[in-house]
Formats: sequence, structure tokens, C-alpha cells
Amino acid sequence: MRKDANTVSDSKTLDNLSTETRSFAPSKNFSDQAIATQARYDAANADRLGYWADQARQVLTWDTDFTETLDWSQAPVAKWFVGGKLNAAYNALDRHVENGLGDRVAIYFEGEPGDTRTYTYAQLTEEVKKAANAFESLGVAKGDRVAVYLPMIPEAVITMLACARIGAIHSVVFGGFSADALRSRIDDADAKLVVTADGTWRRGKPSPLKPAVDEALSAPGHTVQNVLVVKRNGEPTEFGSLDKWWDDVVGAASTEHTAVAHDSEHPLFVLYTSGTTGKPKGIVHTTGGFLTQGAVTHRDTFDLHPETDVFWCTADIGWVTGHSYVTYAPLINGATQVIYEGTPDTPHQGRWWELVEKYGVTILYTAPTAIRTFMKWGREIPDGYDLSSLRVLGSVGEPINPEAWMWYRDVIGTNNGKNGERKEHPTPIVDTWWQTETGAHMIAPLPGVTATKPGSAQVAVPGIAIDVVDEAGESVANGQGGFLVIREPWPAMLRGIWGDMDRYKETYWSRYENMYFAGDGAKKDADGDIWLLGRVDDVMNVSGHRLSTTEIESSLVAHPYVAEAAVVGAKDDTTGEAVVAFVILQTVPAEGEDVVATLRNHVGKDIGPIAKPKHVLVVPELPKTRSGKIMRRLLKDVAEGREVGDATTLSDSTVMSQIAQSMGK
Ligand code: WTA
Repeated sequence: MRKDANTVSDSKTLDNLSTETRSFAPSKNFSDQAIATQARYDAANADRLGYWADQARQVLTWDTDFTETLDWSQAPVAKWFVGGKLNAAYNALDRHVENGLGDRVAIYFEGEPGDTRTYTYAQLTEEVKKAANAFESLGVAKGDRVAVYLPMIPEAVITMLACARIGAIHSVVFGGFSADALRSRIDDADAKLVVTADGTWRRGKPSPLKPAVDEALSAPGHTVQNVLVVKRNGEPTEFGSLDKWWDDVVGAASTEHTAVAHDSEHPLFVLYTSGTTGKPKGIVHTTGGFLTQGAVTHRDTFDLHPETDVFWCTADIGWVTGHSYVTYAPLINGATQVIYEGTPDTPHQGRWWELVEKYGVTILYTAPTAIRTFMKWGREIPDGYDLSSLRVLGSVGEPINPEAWMWYRDVIGTNNGKNGERKEHPTPIVDTWWQTETGAHMIAPLPGVTATKPGSAQVAVPGIAIDVVDEAGESVANGQGGFLVIREPWPAMLRGIWGDMDRYKETYWSRYENMYFAGDGAKKDADGDIWLLGRVDDVMNVSGHRLSTTEIESSLVAHPYVAEAAVVGAKDDTTGEAVVAFVILQTVPAEGEDVVATLRNHVGKDIGPIAKPKHVLVVPELPKTRSGKIMRRLLKDVAEGREVGDATTLSDSTVMSQIAQSMGK
């Protein structure tokens, strides 16, 4: 991207499918007790909409039953469970208490410093009622937007559910995002309330959050009327006119609050995610469909037995996985879950496995990047803990390489105690493909049915219509690759982009007629199973976090030193992809200034530390086609240390050798 110019890039080429051929059928022991059997596929195949209607009535309690399962007349905007009314928080909380499950543990919270809190369903219900009353006392009403900028602490879940209870729309902003990123999200959604904390703990040290909120709100022109601050790390915190302590406001609120039912299509939340342009998209999800598919997939993909299982999804609340599989689905299903605030290596690299042992975690849901990090740290660490409680292992966020999949199975999934005993039947591994936009699992094995393959998410969830198509939109044959599409609307689908329905249609529904374009490359193997191959657009995936090349390029060219920038995602052994930036400078920095550090920090401040390029390479030119498109494919070759591919369409054929020279090659 050039200063003041918009350049479009060429799309990535699809990787080759690995030649993985192993497959592991479920053990009879597991299948015999599995919640989901072949009958799920049969029912969904026989009558897709009827299946979803049945499921919606099974997993949720409706205040008013729906009269129509799907209204697709305004396609591509769907209405699911039309006419139905329900309250999300009532479904996650009150009804379990009414059903005699008030004493069941909903959340085991473990703070990074080792402090713990346990909430039963009865206690969590009370906390959410108090927060709902408190938010209402601050003037938050149905339909208002609430920005949530919190660490992984129970108040994050309480805040989200309190919003849902009163019909306010939460917009959670990941705590790792910068003040600028927070402000742009507050502005886009016109948030009325911000809920934050003084800070959190990171690697044994207090890490502040509140100053970023102060900075975000320092410029006038925002819509925020109050800032509620949870006291978490107890660091000194400056207070301004909008600020109030959570304890003062929520602590004083009544524990009586009656949940009113909202329409099935009432918006539940907005969650911003990176797209192919510089501006993040506010993905809108509504109530009935999102909760139905979240709960159904949580139950079936993970074989959830809520009376006995202890579920732990390690995702932060700032990402969709934390929305669907921390806040909503586990509680809708009446499950017991673990929430951990900190990093996996604090105070030691065995912390996660210590938590699995301590809480008897039975289902662990995490990301390939974490698994690869544990591989690097060595198997001796998990081998030193008793992981015998585990019975299902999940993966999400990026393609899992077969090596990491096998390690997950062999090291974590067969651990049967500290004495080195191994399980006779390794725990099944479920690789789950989905997106912020899809709201819930779309491709995933059923652990009691599917013979799983290392590295493949394999099969559509019952009731979901997935396909891989070619450029023309034709279904590809087995053994062929193409683009992942969704052929039929699904309950948890996004209902649009906040404030920009045209962009919604353009981004997802214009590439092919009547098919949702996911932006992922995929292949069907000889059995027709689906292997995900990564993004085909300008979205990168770093440690399972979506980042936009364009957004980082915009940030770089906004710096006075930079004339032009091109960003690519380069393969990385731990994080999947790493951000690599190529920049052309227009100003010569001061003698002795580390320009690379300056630019990395600039992006970190602008977007957030996760967006900081791993490498910034200063180059004299960027490779472009005659029409001015940056050929990222060639830069990717450079970034990944490969021989540079076909460069015949370059407008200036010497550019690549100039780049190589500037890098000292
Ligand atoms: C990628 C995260 C391969 C994919 C839930 C998708 C995956 C993007 C997988 C969505 C998986 C997620 N295998 N790729 N199991 N899961 N992805 O919105 O490229 O943060 O389009 O949602 O992550 O990322 P998002």
C-alpha cells in the first residue's frame, strides 16, 4: 500500500494437500456412551430445517415458541426461529437453578497469581441479576451498546450475560488491543457504557487496562456516559468524571431481576473482526439461532455430559471462541467450566496441566499454536501431571498440522497419570472449523462416530451444508481443491455487519450466487473429507488471531518514515503465520535510530501488540504487476526463505533482485 493510494493484492495460491493417510476410529467404549450418534446425521439429512427446529426446542427454553424455522425471503439476511421469544441469560442461568441445579459449579476461576473463585449456577445467577440492575441504573436499555474491555475474569462473563439479560448489545474488545482500536470500536457501535478493569496479571506482573480506556475517551465526540471499573490487580488507578467502581455500583444492586423475553432475532452482540480492508467489521449475531447452534455443537462435538464433565476452553473472551464456547454454550448446557486468567508459562510451563489435574478437566478446547508451543517446551512437562481425566480434546483457530495433532493425541490424550501409565484408548481429537461469522462449529467430527484424521476437520456438522467449489462455483471432485463455501443458511450465521449491510453482501455473498464465501481454501480428500488450507484473501492468522494485511499496511504508511508498505503472513512453526512487513522509507531516520523497532512499536500502539510485525524489512522497491497490484506471493517467498516463484508479470523485472540485495543475499 502506498501513502494515499489503494492497491489490491493478488490472492494467495493454495498450498498442497499433505499426504496424511492415518485415521483413528472411535473406540467402542467411547461410542457406546456418546451423546451424538449417526442418528444426528440421519435426522438432519432427512429434514434439515425440522432437525434444527427440534434442536432449538431441545436445548433452549422458549418464552414464546417460534412459528417458522427459517425465513430466507430477505436473503442473504436470515431470520431463524421466527416469532420465538426467549432470554439468553435466563437460558444460561435461571432455568438451571429452577431445575434444581443451583448448587452445580458453573465456573471455576483461577487467576494468574493463583487466587481462585468458584461460582455455582445459583451464585452466578445472582451476580448477573445484580449487574443487570446496575447497568439499568446507569441508563443502559434494550438495544444500547456496551463496550467490554476486560481480562479473562468472571466479570467478563457476568457483564456479557447481564447485557443479554436486559437486551443490551455487548461489543467485547480484546484486552490486547490498543486505545485507538478500542476507540474506533466504541465509535462504530456508539457505545453508551464501557466495562473495564484496573488491569490484569501477565507473567507475574500487573498489566494495566484502564489507562487505554482513558486514552481512548480522551478525545471528545464519543457517546460513552459511564465507565465501570472492576478492581482486579489493585494498582493505583486514575478516576475521571465518567468512572465508577464496579464494586460500588454492582455491589450495591439488588439480586432481584426478572428477565424479559426478547425476540429470537434480537441482536445479542457485535464482535469486530479483521477483514480484507483496513476497517474491522462489526459482526452481528442474534439470539435464538446463535444460542441453538452453539449449544448443540458444544454438546455433540465435545460429547458433553453436563453432570460429570469439566470443560475448559482456553480462548480469551475477546474472540468469538470465548463468546460461543465460554460465555454462552457451556452455560446454556448447564456445564461446569474452568476459566483461567493468565499465560500458560506462569509461574511455570506446566501451569495448564496443573489446572487440568487440579480441576479434573475432562474436555480441553484450545488452539494449534498453543499445542506447538507445548511441543517446543517438551513432553516431560505434561508427562509430570495426571491428565487421566481428559476424554475429549478440541482444536480451533487455524489448520492443525498432523504433527501437532499426533502430539496432542500421544502426549496429552494418552496420559493416564504421573506414573507414566498410558490410556488404552487415546482421547478423540476434534478439529473444529468455523469463524466469527459462522458463530459456531461448522466442520467437525462427531467423536463417537467419525474416524478422525490428523490435520483434517473433515465433515460438516449435522444440519450444515458445506462444499468446496472451483472458481466457477462448481463443486470439486474428491481429491481436488478450491474454495470453501456454505450452501445453505445456518442458525448461528451472522446477520450482517454493524451499520454496513452492503459490505456484508459484498464480502460474503457476491463471489458466488446463493453461497456464502468463507475466504478459506480447502480440499476434499479421496473420501470426500475436508482439509482446510488457510485463507485465500488478505487475512492472516497469527496464533489463531485474525489480522488484516491491509490494516497493518495502513498503520505503517501512516507513519511519517514510510512511503509504501506490503505485509504478508509467513509460515511460522509456532504461531502458524507471522507478520512480515516490507517497507519503503521516504524519510531517513535520525542517526542511530532503530527504525525497525520504531515501526514495530508504532503498529503495536496503533492496533495492538499481536499485530506487531515479527520482521520489518526495509526495501528499495516492492514487486508490482503492470496494473499496480503488489505481488504478495513473491514477498511471501522471500519471507519464507524460498526460491522466488514466477515473476514474469512484474512491471519491473529487477525488483526482486533489488530486494534480495537489500537483504544481503
Ligand atoms: C481459520 C475462529 C483451519 C480459518 C473460530 C477461518 C481454521 C478463520 C480452523 C476464522 C480450523 C478457524 N482449521 N482453519 N479448525 N478454525 N480457522 O473468525 O481461516 O477468529 O476463516 O474464528 O480461522 O477465524 P475467527
